[in-house]
Amino acid sequence: MLVYEIVRKKLDGEKNTAEEISQLVMGFVHGEVSPEQMATWLAAVYIRGLSDEETWWLTDAMAKSGRILDLSSIEGVKVDKHSTGGVGDKVSIIVVPLVASAGVPVAKLTGRALGHTGGTADKLESIPGMRLSLSEEEFIAQVKRIGCAIAVTTEDIAPADKKIYALRDKTATVASIPLIVSSILSKKIAGGADAFVFDVKFGDGAFMRRLEDAKALAEGLVKTAKLAGKKAVGVLSSMEQPLGRAIGNAVEVEEAIEVLKGKGQEDVRELCLEISALMLWLGGAVTNPEEGKSKATELLDSGAALESFRKLVAAQGGDEKVVDEPERLPKPSFKREVKATQRGTISAISTRQLGIIAGLLGAARIGSEKVDPAAGIIVLKKVGEKVDLGEPVAILQSSNPIDNDLLDKVGACFKFGEVEKIPSILAGFIG
Ligand code: URA
Repeated sequence: MLVYEIVRKKLDGEKNTAEEISQLVMGFVHGEVSPEQMATWLAAVYIRGLSDEETWWLTDAMAKSGRILDLSSIEGVKVDKHSTGGVGDKVSIIVVPLVASAGVPVAKLTGRALGHTGGTADKLESIPGMRLSLSEEEFIAQVKRIGCAIAVTTEDIAPADKKIYALRDKTATVASIPLIVSSILSKKIAGGADAFVFDVKFGDGAFMRRLEDAKALAEGLVKTAKLAGKKAVGVLSSMEQPLGRAIGNAVEVEEAIEVLKGKGQEDVRELCLEISALMLWLGGAVTNPEEGKSKATELLDSGAALESFRKLVAAQGGDEKVVDEPERLPKPSFKREVKATQRGTISAISTRQLGIIAGLLGAARIGSEKVDPAAGIIVLKKVGEKVDLGEPVAILQSSNPIDNDLLDKVGACFKFGEVEKIPSILAGFIG
């Protein structure tokens, strides 16, 4: 069909066919569909929307624009999880080895820090020697050998997404649920897993700030993944304040290890148990999520998850001694405390802003190609906690000197006031 006609149909609110969508996506990747034509179709989708079937066809076409991993030689239901990105989100570091320790294979492709949100690949690479760039053969062989692997996504995974996302970014069409669903899911499907748990964040530090938008995204992801023949569930989790107290790379690995030791921050533990429970259920290790929760708790508290993490680190060339000696992780040359300028109770934390500042300290690629593994922020006071005048509320750390300006900016992220109820980390389940 003429590309003109495919675009016209969507502009007029008609449904496109699978063939038309595939022609459009492949044509755009190969330069036969112009950026003007693609941008017009994207704008039409932004306004008119896509049906469930069209969303799946778009996802499928984008996944097929590159390599799709074939994990069929690994026995069992291969599970993966995806978070829409947050501040202090170290969940993957914990749940991947935890779920693998129950015999459920976990094959996880992951990304790097993006905007104000951190990336699991950058976090794990702060462990000396740890390698996240694995070939497909290495990735599969490792899952067969130790039950899990975490590898960084490569350029040939859903290349159409990269090209389309760049155009969406230029044409103000990012915030469309079917376009976000197909973008996220095409990369996940190309990763080859059979089942997915989607952790969709909402709140100040999330990509979707409003709970109802996060819910719509989670529903779209689950519905479309099911149309793809995958098992899928979603959870809605709060990013109204950072997850745990560490934001950065090595600092988050250290906090994750604490949780793997059966200790650590309660909100991180609670979210990890919930996501693990669902992964164990989808993977067939338990018959329902409640049983999954008990099993996940047992694996965390018995040390089985920690042993699995040790194996994961060693298998990918990392120094597994960091588990017992966290001082082996990169340490910052500079540390500065941020002190409260008033006394009272913390009522809110500007989480997005803290994520940006952690990036500026070096934890992400803001203005530099290299990540500083030791950079980050330790949040000493969270919502509902009392603070005295002059008491430290956060510690900033970096391998480079820290500007006074950043101290002031972090100080301003902590709001004071009355707190009626400490917000819960979990806000819903999408099945
Ligand atoms: N994350 C993605 O991968 N794609 C989007 O479109 C939005 C967030």
